[in-house]
Amino acid sequence: MRIEVVTLFPEFVAEAVRVGVLGRAIERGTVAVNATTPREFATDVHKSVDDRPYGGGPGMVMTIEPARTSIRAAKARLPAGSRSVYLAADGAPLTHAKAQELAKLPGLLLLAGRYEGVDERLIQSEIDESVSIGDYVLSGGELPALVLIDAVVRLLPGVLGDEASAIEDSFVAGLLDWPHYTRPEVFEGQAVPAVLVGGNHAAIRRWREQQALGRTWLRRPDLIEKLALTAEQQRLLKE
Ligand code: ADE
Repeated sequence: MRIEVVTLFPEFVAEAVRVGVLGRAIERGTVAVNATTPREFATDVHKSVDDRPYGGGPGMVMTIEPARTSIRAAKARLPAGSRSVYLAADGAPLTHAKAQELAKLPGLLLLAGRYEGVDERLIQSEIDESVSIGDYVLSGGELPALVLIDAVVRLLPGVLGDEASAIEDSFVAGLLDWPHYTRPEVFEGQAVPAVLVGGNHAAIRRWREQQALGRTWLRRPDLIEKLALTAEQQRLLKE
């Protein structure tokens, strides 16, 4: 997959994608991430990329040019069938299902705007969809773009180990994670749950399912409502 990010802070994006799972996926060539700035296409002496909003009010709005030239140059580097996404607090929520949908595409153009926004006509003419990472307002689209990249890239084939991918695909999809423990076995008088050190793999699996269900029921009842729980899961929840 190829990802082009159009942002006023390309160094920030380029630096952030170098770490962890994402960094390894880039090194292996599973994904290529390139960040560029509209500023390089600005034509005036000040290299302007924004202007005051029509109708008044605080803040600045990203102008159509030079952003459009920058977006078009980035699109020209993407394979056919790629999609363009604007990161914005008023976009459709980023969900695991959305990440799965985007992970099937050969390429993505991500436009990170400043929070006051981007000229609406630029969105209308160059962008396929707007995506939000949550109901809060950030000062720019760079962190949302990085969140989206991380959520999508870890779903690409070969990025996670087999076991981790299997877990993502299994029945636990749609539930919160179960709790995890590592050494020491006892910490300040708190022991690791006995089942996890007992070596009974069926019992461990059952315990994890139950924990995932219980946590989701307590913390995110909205998720439970959306799921069609199996008879086994309903039984585990009642235990
Ligand atoms: N830009 C500013 N806030 C945002 C949010 N919550 N999601 C995506 N992009 C944003």
